Amino acid sequence: MDPRVTALVPAFDAPFFQAGLAGYSDAAMRIIARRHGCPYCVTEALLDRTLLAGGRGFDKADLGELHDNVPGGEADHPLAGQIMGSEPREMAVAALKMIEQKKRSDKEYRLLAYGDAAPAMIPVRGAAGAAGGLDATEGLGDTGDACGVAEESCDPLDYEDGAAAGEGAGSELDGVRDGAGGDDTAGRFEVIDVNLACPVKKIASKARGGHWLTEPAGAIRILEAVREMLPASVPCTVKLRRAFDDTPEMAANFDRIIAAAFDMGYAWATVHARTVMQKYVGPSRWDLLRDIVKRHTKRPIFGSGDVWEAADIIRMMAYTGCSGVSVARGCIGNPWIFRQARDLLAGRPALAPTIAEQREVLHEHFRLSLAVTRRFRHGEEATSRMMRKFAIRFAAHHPQSDEVRRRFIAVSTADAWRNVLDTYYAKET
Ligand SMILES: Cc1cc2nc3c(=O)[nH]c(=O)nc-3n(C[C@H](O)[C@H](O)[C@H](O)COP(=O)(O)O)c2cc1C
Repeated sequence: MDPRVTALVPAFDAPFFQAGLAGYSDAAMRIIARRHGCPYCVTEALLDRTLLAGGRGFDKADLGELHDNVPGGEADHPLAGQIMGSEPREMAVAALKMIEQKKRSDKEYRLLAYGDAAPAMIPVRGAAGAAGGLDATEGLGDTGDACGVAEESCDPLDYEDGAAAGEGAGSELDGVRDGAGGDDTAGRFEVIDVNLACPVKKIASKARGGHWLTEPAGAIRILEAVREMLPASVPCTVKLRRAFDDTPEMAANFDRIIAAAFDMGYAWATVHARTVMQKYVGPSRWDLLRDIVKRHTKRPIFGSGDVWEAADIIRMMAYTGCSGVSVARGCIGNPWIFRQARDLLAGRPALAPTIAEQREVLHEHFRLSLAVTRRFRHGEEATSRMMRKFAIRFAAHHPQSDEVRRRFIAVSTADAWRNVLDTYYAKET
């Protein structure tokens, strides 16, 4: 493990982490990943405006939902909060708000961001609204179909035999349920990650995410504003695509931005080796990632793109020389990838999960998801719908994967969920 990373985040003790995955990487998914050896997680991207708006009615704003980005208690650390936006000052204050977690009132943060022009409420849906939000399915590429389960509503669940399933989730979710943690770290983020990677289109001709790679001066202003706003003790990191497109001009922009980030003290960068224009089509160019790693040695670089199994983590590091790997689509319905990576790094074989292990995770992921969702929305309904997209991925590990997948897709109640587990996951096959 790169000692420059552990020096800043001691518990980040293995060269891989769970990426931000809009629509997936909530506290439940993160806790399951951590139980399987994932040393560090990033939230999905959250818009600066969403964070600053705060309050009722804004907690389901256009990019991610605030509760998906709330630290999931003591078991959900170390954790980076990822922010994305268009205005340096908004980004900086949003980052501060994430780090401080309720230290000031929403109004104070808005004053800090907008001064006297602070709006009482920022029309998140209007200004940077749903049309511009990151559609989770947009990022799915060839996996989109697999997760594209119709979002029809379901009957409320009565999981755990009528008990309030969230209550049974244990103290690890205290931070989620109460909005604050049981200890000093539970309710906060250790790191702030700036998103300069998201390929979703510009909003009202303002850049954000990966579109900043076309405007390096603006990207650098954002990075500076965020770094300057936060205490020096809080590491800042940046997520980038390898360029906006394949022109030499855009490659030069990337080099300028990442060099500036490292010069101003960003702790490390994660580089998704596809262009913004590529979205998720075509390969992640590990050869170009290798060149980037050679050119920018001042700080650690983590690689991203086309990491589907544990061996890919080792392969990417060996081929590109990167300090570590961001695991994204490869860990949806596959938390074992982290355990397997630890085993491979230690010279042990990477073992596939047994049926009993799969059952345990399916049961636990549902239970934790219910604990996450029940405080914020119609928990049972949401959990039932939400779990299908995971379950069909989990089904891939089962010897009768097609049949199990079909059964999971049809699940709309807790009983049906339990029934699939009892039918297919009761014994090793
Ligand atoms: C559904 C989905 C949502 C994503 N959301 C985010 C996000 O919120 N923040 C982020 O930095 N990257 C996000 N990404 C990008 C991934 O972190 C990763 O860089 C990308 O998927 C490439 O890795 P892969 O090919 O191994 O999946 C998302 C990707 C997908 C597929």
